[in-house]
Amino acid sequence: MKFFLDTADIADIKKYAAWGIVDGVTTNPSIIAKGGVNLEQRIKEIAEIVEGPISAEVISEDAEGMITEGRRIAKWDENVYVKVPMTSEGLKAVSVFSKEGIHTNVTLVFSVTQAVMAAKAGATLVSPFVGRLDDISEDEMQLIADIVHVFRNYGYDTQVLAASIRHPKHIVDCMMCGADIATMPPELFDKLASHPLTDKGLVAFLKDWEKVKDKQ
Ligand code: E4P
Repeated sequence: MKFFLDTADIADIKKYAAWGIVDGVTTNPSIIAKGGVNLEQRIKEIAEIVEGPISAEVISEDAEGMITEGRRIAKWDENVYVKVPMTSEGLKAVSVFSKEGIHTNVTLVFSVTQAVMAAKAGATLVSPFVGRLDDISEDEMQLIADIVHVFRNYGYDTQVLAASIRHPKHIVDCMMCGADIATMPPELFDKLASHPLTDKGLVAFLKDWEKVKDKQ
Protein backbone atom coordinates (compact mmCIF):
# COMPACT_ATOMS: atom_id res chain seq x y z
CA MET A 1 0.00 0.00 0.00
CA LYS A 2 1.21 3.50 -0.78
CA PHE A 3 1.57 5.97 2.09
CA PHE A 4 0.71 9.63 1.49
CA LEU A 5 1.23 12.50 3.91
CA ASP A 6 -1.90 14.50 4.64
CA THR A 7 -0.20 17.84 5.27
CA ALA A 8 1.30 20.92 3.65
CA ASP A 9 3.97 21.33 6.31
CA ILE A 10 7.33 21.45 4.52
CA ALA A 11 9.39 20.51 7.58
CA ASP A 12 7.28 17.39 8.14
CA ILE A 13 7.32 16.46 4.45
CA LYS A 14 11.13 16.75 4.35
CA LYS A 15 11.47 14.80 7.60
CA TYR A 16 9.43 11.81 6.47
CA ALA A 17 10.56 11.91 2.83
CA ALA A 18 14.04 11.28 4.24
CA TRP A 19 12.71 8.01 5.69
CA GLY A 20 11.97 6.89 2.11
CA ILE A 21 8.32 6.14 2.81
CA VAL A 22 6.39 9.09 1.37
CA ASP A 23 4.67 8.08 -1.87
CA GLY A 24 2.62 11.25 -2.25
CA VAL A 25 0.93 14.16 -0.46
CA THR A 26 -2.67 15.25 -0.05
CA THR A 27 -3.86 18.72 0.88
CA ASN A 28 -7.27 20.27 1.31
CA PRO A 29 -8.45 23.85 1.90
CA SER A 30 -8.43 23.34 5.70
CA ILE A 31 -4.83 22.09 5.65
CA ILE A 32 -3.75 25.06 3.50
CA ALA A 33 -5.65 27.46 5.80
CA LYS A 34 -3.96 25.91 8.85
CA GLY A 35 -0.56 26.58 7.29
CA GLY A 36 -1.62 30.08 6.22
CA VAL A 37 0.21 29.62 2.91
CA ASN A 38 -0.33 30.28 -0.79
CA LEU A 39 -1.63 27.07 -2.41
CA GLU A 40 0.26 27.32 -5.72
CA GLN A 41 3.54 28.22 -4.09
CA ARG A 42 3.24 25.47 -1.48
CA ILE A 43 2.26 22.76 -3.99
CA LYS A 44 5.30 23.67 -6.10
CA GLU A 45 7.53 23.49 -3.01
CA ILE A 46 6.13 20.07 -2.14
CA ALA A 47 6.71 18.89 -5.72
CA GLU A 48 10.42 19.68 -5.27
CA ILE A 49 10.57 17.22 -2.36
CA VAL A 50 8.13 14.40 -3.22
CA GLU A 51 8.04 12.52 -6.50
CA GLY A 52 4.54 11.01 -6.23
CA PRO A 53 1.05 12.46 -6.64
CA ILE A 54 0.27 15.72 -4.84
CA SER A 55 -3.42 16.59 -4.46
CA ALA A 56 -4.55 20.23 -4.63
CA GLU A 57 -8.27 20.91 -4.20
CA VAL A 58 -10.53 23.19 -6.22
CA ILE A 59 -12.84 25.47 -4.25
CA SER A 60 -15.41 26.27 -6.94
CA GLU A 61 -18.82 24.66 -6.49
CA ASP A 62 -19.85 24.69 -10.15
CA ALA A 63 -18.30 22.46 -12.83
CA GLU A 64 -17.24 25.38 -15.00
CA GLY A 65 -15.33 26.98 -12.14
CA MET A 66 -13.78 23.63 -11.13
CA ILE A 67 -12.63 23.01 -14.69
CA THR A 68 -11.01 26.44 -14.96
CA GLU A 69 -9.31 26.01 -11.58
CA GLY A 70 -8.29 22.42 -12.23
CA ARG A 71 -6.69 23.17 -15.58
CA ARG A 72 -4.61 25.87 -13.89
CA ILE A 73 -3.68 23.61 -10.94
CA ALA A 74 -2.67 20.75 -13.25
CA LYS A 75 -0.04 22.98 -14.88
CA TRP A 76 1.83 23.54 -11.59
CA ASP A 77 3.62 20.19 -11.81
CA GLU A 78 3.20 16.92 -13.71
CA ASN A 79 2.54 15.12 -10.41
CA VAL A 80 -0.29 17.39 -9.32
CA TYR A 81 -3.70 15.72 -9.03
CA VAL A 82 -6.78 17.92 -9.05
CA LYS A 83 -8.88 17.20 -5.98
CA VAL A 84 -12.60 17.54 -6.70
CA PRO A 85 -15.50 17.20 -4.24
CA MET A 86 -17.94 14.31 -4.78
CA THR A 87 -20.88 16.33 -6.07
CA SER A 88 -22.80 16.21 -9.35
CA GLU A 89 -20.85 19.30 -10.47
CA GLY A 90 -17.67 17.55 -9.40
CA LEU A 91 -18.53 14.54 -11.56
CA LYS A 92 -18.97 16.80 -14.61
CA ALA A 93 -15.56 18.34 -13.98
CA VAL A 94 -13.90 14.93 -13.43
CA SER A 95 -15.35 13.68 -16.70
CA VAL A 96 -13.76 16.62 -18.54
CA PHE A 97 -10.43 16.24 -16.71
CA SER A 98 -10.38 12.54 -17.51
CA LYS A 99 -10.73 13.22 -21.24
CA GLU A 100 -7.95 15.82 -21.01
CA GLY A 101 -5.57 13.43 -19.24
CA ILE A 102 -5.66 15.43 -15.99
CA HIS A 103 -5.37 13.21 -12.92
CA THR A 104 -8.08 13.61 -10.28
CA ASN A 105 -8.74 12.72 -6.67
CA VAL A 106 -12.45 12.70 -5.84
CA THR A 107 -12.80 13.67 -2.20
CA LEU A 108 -15.45 13.55 0.53
CA VAL A 109 -16.60 10.06 -0.48
CA PHE A 110 -18.79 8.35 2.13
CA SER A 111 -20.56 5.56 0.22
CA VAL A 112 -19.94 2.79 -2.30
CA THR A 113 -22.29 4.42 -4.80
CA GLN A 114 -20.39 7.70 -4.63
CA ALA A 115 -17.13 5.84 -5.25
CA VAL A 116 -18.62 4.05 -8.25
CA MET A 117 -20.00 7.29 -9.70
CA ALA A 118 -16.55 8.88 -9.39
CA ALA A 119 -14.90 5.87 -11.01
CA LYS A 120 -17.37 5.87 -13.88
CA ALA A 121 -16.69 9.59 -14.46
CA GLY A 122 -12.99 8.72 -14.82
CA ALA A 123 -11.49 9.59 -11.42
CA THR A 124 -7.88 8.52 -10.93
CA LEU A 125 -8.34 8.26 -7.15
CA VAL A 126 -11.34 8.19 -4.83
CA SER A 127 -10.98 9.27 -1.21
CA PRO A 128 -13.38 7.61 1.24
CA PHE A 129 -13.05 9.34 4.64
CA VAL A 130 -12.35 6.65 7.22
CA GLY A 131 -11.95 8.76 10.37
CA ARG A 132 -15.02 10.93 9.86
CA LEU A 133 -17.19 7.80 9.57
CA ASP A 134 -15.51 6.29 12.62
CA ASP A 135 -16.20 9.55 14.48
CA ILE A 136 -19.94 8.97 14.05
CA SER A 137 -19.79 5.22 14.80
CA GLU A 138 -20.27 4.12 11.19
CA ASP A 139 -18.49 0.97 9.93
CA GLU A 140 -15.69 2.75 8.10
CA MET A 141 -13.72 -0.38 7.17
CA GLN A 142 -16.73 -2.07 5.65
CA LEU A 143 -16.91 0.91 3.29
CA ILE A 144 -13.26 0.50 2.26
CA ALA A 145 -13.67 -3.27 1.80
CA ASP A 146 -16.86 -2.80 -0.23
CA ILE A 147 -15.36 -0.18 -2.56
CA VAL A 148 -12.27 -2.33 -3.17
CA HIS A 149 -14.49 -5.36 -3.83
CA VAL A 150 -16.79 -3.54 -6.25
CA PHE A 151 -13.91 -1.92 -8.15
CA ARG A 152 -12.34 -5.37 -8.57
CA ASN A 153 -15.65 -6.92 -9.63
CA TYR A 154 -15.98 -4.45 -12.48
CA GLY A 155 -12.33 -3.80 -13.30
CA TYR A 156 -12.25 -0.08 -12.54
CA ASP A 157 -8.75 1.39 -12.73
CA THR A 158 -9.63 4.01 -10.11
CA GLN A 159 -7.51 3.60 -7.00
CA VAL A 160 -8.90 3.64 -3.46
CA LEU A 161 -7.21 6.27 -1.27
CA ALA A 162 -8.26 5.83 2.35
CA ALA A 163 -8.35 9.35 3.82
CA SER A 164 -9.08 10.90 7.19
CA ILE A 165 -6.94 8.30 8.93
CA ARG A 166 -6.71 8.70 12.70
CA HIS A 167 -4.57 5.87 14.14
CA PRO A 168 -2.37 2.85 13.26
CA LYS A 169 -5.25 0.37 13.46
CA HIS A 170 -6.94 2.24 10.62
CA ILE A 171 -3.83 1.67 8.50
CA VAL A 172 -3.63 -2.05 9.28
CA ASP A 173 -7.34 -2.49 8.61
CA CYS A 174 -7.08 -0.56 5.31
CA MET A 175 -4.23 -2.83 4.22
CA MET A 176 -6.29 -5.91 5.13
CA CYS A 177 -9.15 -4.51 3.05
CA GLY A 178 -6.89 -3.92 0.04
CA ALA A 179 -6.93 -0.11 -0.14
CA ASP A 180 -4.36 1.10 -2.67
CA ILE A 181 -3.25 4.17 -0.71
CA ALA A 182 -3.69 5.68 2.76
CA THR A 183 -3.10 9.34 3.50
CA MET A 184 -2.30 10.20 7.08
CA PRO A 185 -1.15 13.02 9.36
CA PRO A 186 2.65 13.15 9.82
CA GLU A 187 2.67 12.06 13.48
CA LEU A 188 1.13 8.76 12.47
CA PHE A 189 4.34 7.76 10.69
CA ASP A 190 6.11 7.83 14.07
CA LYS A 191 3.42 5.62 15.58
CA LEU A 192 3.61 3.15 12.67
CA ALA A 193 7.37 2.85 12.94
CA SER A 194 7.78 2.56 16.71
CA HIS A 195 7.29 -0.22 19.26
CA PRO A 196 8.19 -0.17 22.98
CA LEU A 197 9.81 -3.61 22.71
CA THR A 198 12.13 -2.26 20.00
CA ASP A 199 13.21 0.58 22.31
CA LYS A 200 13.60 -1.77 25.28
CA GLY A 201 15.54 -4.29 23.21
CA LEU A 202 17.91 -1.66 21.87
CA VAL A 203 18.66 -0.30 25.36
CA ALA A 204 19.54 -3.85 26.49
CA PHE A 205 21.77 -4.52 23.45
CA LEU A 206 23.72 -1.29 23.93
CA LYS A 207 24.08 -1.90 27.68
CA ASP A 208 25.48 -5.39 27.05
CA TRP A 209 27.80 -4.04 24.37
CA GLU A 210 29.36 -1.72 26.94
CA LYS A 211 30.70 -4.85 28.70
CA VAL A 212 32.75 -5.92 25.68
CA LYS A 213 33.39 -2.68 23.79
CA ASP A 214 37.02 -2.50 24.97
CA LYS A 215 37.65 -5.92 23.44
CA GLN A 216 36.60 -4.77 19.93
C1 E4P B 1 -7.44 13.96 2.57
O1 E4P B 1 -7.49 13.87 1.38
C2 E4P B 1 -8.55 14.46 3.38
O2 E4P B 1 -8.84 15.76 3.04
C3 E4P B 1 -8.20 14.34 4.83
O3 E4P B 1 -7.63 13.06 5.05
C4 E4P B 1 -9.33 14.64 5.77
O4 E4P B 1 -8.93 14.31 7.08
P1 E4P B 1 -9.73 14.81 8.38
O5 E4P B 1 -11.02 14.08 8.46
O6 E4P B 1 -8.81 14.48 9.51
O7 E4P B 1 -9.93 16.29 8.21
